[in-house]
Amino acid sequence: MKSRRGEDKGKKKTIFRPARYNERPQRNSSDPGAGLAAESQPVVVLLCLDPASDALGIAAVALVEGATEPEGDDPVYQQRLPVPGGQGHLLQAARVSYSPLPVSPIDQLNARSTKLTDRNRKAFRKSSIIKFNIGWKTVYMVSGANNIQNLFRSGHGINDDSMVRTAAEVVWDMPPEDLAKLVDDRSGRNKVPKPGYEDMPFHKRYWAANHEIYETFLSSKEFSNASAIKYFEVFAERLEKFPLGEWTTHSLTDVFMNDMTHGAVTALMGSQILALNPGFVAHYWTFERYLVEFLAGLPKWLNPRPYRALENFKAMTTKWVESAWDNFDWDGPDADAPWDPHFGSRVMREISRWWKENLAFKSQSGFFASLLLAQNSNTVPAAMWSVLRLIEDKELYRAVRAEVATALVVDPTTGARTLDPQTLGALPLLNALYTETLRYHVTFNIMREVSEDTQMDGYDLKKGAWIQASTQIAHFDESLWARDGHPASEFWIGRFLEYEDKVVDEASGRTERVPKFNGSTRPGSYFPYGGGAAMCPGRQFARLEILITIALLVSKFDIDFLEWTFPDGRKSDRPGKPDESVMGSGVLRPDRDMKVRWKRLW
Ligand code: HEM
Repeated sequence: MKSRRGEDKGKKKTIFRPARYNERPQRNSSDPGAGLAAESQPVVVLLCLDPASDALGIAAVALVEGATEPEGDDPVYQQRLPVPGGQGHLLQAARVSYSPLPVSPIDQLNARSTKLTDRNRKAFRKSSIIKFNIGWKTVYMVSGANNIQNLFRSGHGINDDSMVRTAAEVVWDMPPEDLAKLVDDRSGRNKVPKPGYEDMPFHKRYWAANHEIYETFLSSKEFSNASAIKYFEVFAERLEKFPLGEWTTHSLTDVFMNDMTHGAVTALMGSQILALNPGFVAHYWTFERYLVEFLAGLPKWLNPRPYRALENFKAMTTKWVESAWDNFDWDGPDADAPWDPHFGSRVMREISRWWKENLAFKSQSGFFASLLLAQNSNTVPAAMWSVLRLIEDKELYRAVRAEVATALVVDPTTGARTLDPQTLGALPLLNALYTETLRYHVTFNIMREVSEDTQMDGYDLKKGAWIQASTQIAHFDESLWARDGHPASEFWIGRFLEYEDKVVDEASGRTERVPKFNGSTRPGSYFPYGGGAAMCPGRQFARLEILITIALLVSKFDIDFLEWTFPDGRKSDRPGKPDESVMGSGVLRPDRDMKVRWKRLW
């Protein structure tokens, strides 16, 4: 008998819990949790104070009988406390570091401790789907290209709106009647509604309407190019502040978090948002930093700082969206322009208009705050990692710079230089660097929800659970990614390159070995932007933004590495590595800054 998802129902398997939750896989049982229910204890929530940072948070604590001893200094397991009524039980998964593993749902999307991932990776050797608890919630994590593709198809039984719904509830502060509209709309994101929803009018199909706006005005070539060109203009202008022809010393983090973010925000949301809100970019990063604590769910009276950061930031986006509505002329010359100073890119205008017609205006500010987060918390650190890699590897730096020079366009009359996004988009080394950066640095647990009891790969998945796919597990699968003596654990752009002989001199017939970008990846094994209808709608813009940032920096400056430093400027004795204590929404920032000496060339 076939299940709804097309698998053979006769072949039932039992989901494995990763080591430390339960070492014993239960085979041939109809209930994936069989054997566990009796052993698992109710989850308790532990308030903890991080000794290092004074950050107050909640640790999710799973109690599992017979769990093994904590391993060394693993922060995930450093809590071991007696539990009332649960003699001999261990407290597990209490991560008491800068960001304790919280019980709140959204934070779990990003729970990306290396130890947790390693444990899950081991568990996947025994079973393609594993099961664990986050707080009181059941989570299935799936592995293997086929399962991940199934997950992205989000067919019957799997819902792809849980991440946005959680943001709507927690960050946007959406009124209950609007939340109900989102929750009740199960018609899917595609133009053709899911079976059973054929008669639903399009204006009530919130996910589909939103998807269409993103597709048309953000993801399309026309609009992503337009936003990229705007980004180029603003970022290039910001870089003009560095003296021409003079060596000066700088913190690279500052350039990315300040100048790059400034350019990106202007391209997406216009220049007015910055003009109306002094210090907007700095407030953005404060908001991003405190978001983790906010999502940890402590009440305001216990930990007011994150609430203040969110409210301050939302006040800024409110000021901006209200001003945009007051000042934008919907019948004027900019009505169809790809960018205007008030709303910024066309997609912002279209979303704001749609929202005003269909949902409470007030929650727009929270939505736009979270959109800024989706935009910058990934592109900024990704571009930073790419440039850091180049600075560390002089030979690669020179090769990428030579390649980028072919995309420089010089105006014959003014001498002004621009970079052609189309040519950049086709450069092999630059694209290989970008693709490897995302493979290596995106750490995202893509999240879906089981909306009806269903099956995958022969396992039963229970309604109400979350279901995740980890980029870190898929992107570091040695069997898929190791190449020519370069393991998946190494950053190596050659993974995405092929070499071919190309005639470089027609007269003599002389050939040279030239690189060719080979970005083809097996579906389900590379998904920095997620997949299916919920796939990141900003991916084209993000790619161009990252390529432009790298290209501008390497072509506009001679750059010498000086030293790695701590954020306060003290010299670090080691290079930066991904900072696991800062939960963004995917790409982890380097935990050290890089000090460089540079000279602007044009
Ligand atoms: C390197 C940069 C970026 C990465 C790695 C990234 C990654 C992701 C991922 C993994 C998702 C979830 C997809 C899924 O559930 O299948 C997502 C969603 C989203 N991203 Fe991005 N993103 C990036 C840049 C951007 C940019 C620049 C924008 C906006 C201009 C953006 C806007 C969004 C939005 C709005 C969503 C939610 C879509 C929805 O479900 O309605 N992202 N992104």
